Amino acid sequence: MDLGLKGKVAIVTGSAQGIGRVVARTFAQEGANVVIADIQEDKGKAVAQECQALGVKALFVRTDVTKYEDVENLVKTAVKEMGKVDALVHDAATFVIGPFRRLPRDTWNKVINICLFGAMNCGHAVAEPMAAQKKGHIVFVGSDAGRIGDASQTAYSAAKGGIMAFSKSLAQELGPSGITVNVLSPGLTLTAENTELMEKLIGKEGDEKRQRVCSLYALRKLGTAEDVANVAVFLASDRAGHVTGQVLSVSGGYSMVG
Ligand SMILES: NC(=O)c1ccc[n+]([C@@H]2O[C@H](COP(=O)([O-])OP(=O)(O)OC[C@H]3O[C@@H](n4cnc5c(N)ncnc54)[C@H](O)[C@@H]3O)[C@@H](O)[C@H]2O)c1
Repeated sequence: MDLGLKGKVAIVTGSAQGIGRVVARTFAQEGANVVIADIQEDKGKAVAQECQALGVKALFVRTDVTKYEDVENLVKTAVKEMGKVDALVHDAATFVIGPFRRLPRDTWNKVINICLFGAMNCGHAVAEPMAAQKKGHIVFVGSDAGRIGDASQTAYSAAKGGIMAFSKSLAQELGPSGITVNVLSPGLTLTAENTELMEKLIGKEGDEKRQRVCSLYALRKLGTAEDVANVAVFLASDRAGHVTGQVLSVSGGYSMVG
């Protein structure tokens, strides 16, 4: 199926590495021009070059999603340089693991600020140009931790659950302007950058601990950045134009919320 993304313009936050980088690359493979937004400048520029090598326009805009002026500048630059914004995939996030009773207050603030306020800043800033063109697709990257909870990830789960509630309200507000808003909710996902972290948390491939974790997934395996990126790009395309206000898990059946 042709997703019809050729010549479209997509902003991807948190795209200097990990899932976001693969989302940006997948857009480029589909012929969409991409705007890479991240706080990591060198890596972000490298991803823009990677996308350009696939034959599309790509640019990096240094953006801290917690700063509204940065996000405003991101959207203005995208419109100025690329002519419009058809899609936003908001992927930027951070997480912290540990028991809530021992989690310093500053840490919750940081997680909520990046994950939840970052999403709200980005959703707010793209709404204007999308409403003016009476069309647009917004995809927030959530987490199954925000759908069903995770004992060691309270602040992160709160932020991701907040994104889900926010996106449903935003979908209702922006629907009459032709804008879709959805959340893609990954389970544990392997990326080029998190191999070491995953091994520390759940053991290596073949280890008993990792097998125990995988047994919580209906498909008995963890996801890859490509698994998530394919669905993100689909939700950001006109092919998913009648889907809005939804939370879609891309987690191999880790959570099956009706
Ligand atoms: N990898 C997983 O197992 C997993 C599971 C569930 C959900 N997710 C979600 O998927 C998304 C991507 O995860 P990942 O594993 O690729 O993460 P990652 O840490 O590799 O990438 C996150 C990116 O966000 C950027 N970022 C952080 N703070 C920022 C800020 N203030 N402004 C702009 N950019 C900022 C980072 O620089 C980085 O490039 C996140 O939303 C994450 O919560 C990941």
